[in-house]
Amino acid sequence: MSRKLDRCYNLEDLRKRARKRLPSPMYHYMRGGADDEWSLNNNTAAFDRYELLPRYLVNVEKIDAGVTVLGQELEWPLFLSPTGMSRIFHHEGEIGAARAAHRSGTMYSLSTLGSTSIEDVAAASDGPRMFQIYVLRDPGLNREFIERCREAKYSALCLTVDVPVGGNRERDFHTGMTVPPKLTFMSKLDVARHVSWTYRYLTSGEAEMANFAHRIRDTEDTNLMGYVGRQFDMTVDWDDAARMIEQWGGPFAIKGVMCAEDARRSVEAGASAVMLSNHGGRQLDGAPAPVDLVREVRDAIGDAAEVIVDGGVRRGTHVLKALALGATACSTGRGYLYGLGAGGEAGVDRALKILRDEVERDLALLGCVRARDLDGRFVREVGHQGARK
Ligand code: GLV
Repeated sequence: MSRKLDRCYNLEDLRKRARKRLPSPMYHYMRGGADDEWSLNNNTAAFDRYELLPRYLVNVEKIDAGVTVLGQELEWPLFLSPTGMSRIFHHEGEIGAARAAHRSGTMYSLSTLGSTSIEDVAAASDGPRMFQIYVLRDPGLNREFIERCREAKYSALCLTVDVPVGGNRERDFHTGMTVPPKLTFMSKLDVARHVSWTYRYLTSGEAEMANFAHRIRDTEDTNLMGYVGRQFDMTVDWDDAARMIEQWGGPFAIKGVMCAEDARRSVEAGASAVMLSNHGGRQLDGAPAPVDLVREVRDAIGDAAEVIVDGGVRRGTHVLKALALGATACSTGRGYLYGLGAGGEAGVDRALKILRDEVERDLALLGCVRARDLDGRFVREVGHQGARK
């Protein structure tokens, strides 16, 4: 590993390194959220509303951070959320991230908007893999995705439900970022400052929508909002979700659930997991922080489905708080993309090592030997007044 990555001790260090390496349109596309970015910032801030209650004089010699998620035994309770077009952050893109996830003992999720195909990711890594579905207007494409994932032996599917239209990403207006990205909008200064990124991007082939470019070629220069408006199917409803779950017949998550009612509907539709997520604050600004929903969603669905917290996770303690509140596991998008932007596959290795070490160290500090045993005894709201008579 490079000495620079070695000197990144937390995800914030990796973010700063990614900021230096990346041209500004790519960096701000990754870093930014919708409107005023309230949900984006609140996702991480929300973890500070909970405190952890350690138990001491417990034998913590053997820590077991493993959990079972969507039929997969993960060595620790965090996996990689789906993120679009990863090759714009580093030419090693989805393949580098999937390999690093496997090495770290966790699951990789590939997005419909990925810049590497379902088959190429499967050929590069045989670790646990999930494919994330956006329903596009092309009516046959969705069935095709599901059958390709079956063929390529994906472990699970998830349907993202929070993009009926694209979110208002104002940073992309300022930088001129388009989807798929075009280098022509980069300023000469940006090119000059990021020669190595630009050279690698051009020589390894510009990012394209690798999963559906054979059926949809969209050559208009627009941002994500425009792209989604032209390509995404806005009519998708719960009956469509139930049909997809039935067609797949295996572990299936609904991603983007933001209330107990939709968690219940996910269970009724046959989902095995709900991913509490506001799309990293990139869609509806004002949507709650996923960690703040865990208790009410658990109360509503009991053990009928797994509960995954996707949003704002930047520390091992965040993962432990979510699990103690009732989550099965967490997932992160930017958390690993900062590593990818900072140093490709080795940067994702570094991000996942930092987070896994934190989770394992914090389990020992908490006096909880098994991540599966985390429960409400280990967490409470900040400002709690103690037990009342
Ligand atoms: C795509 O899903 C994005 O949030 O940019």
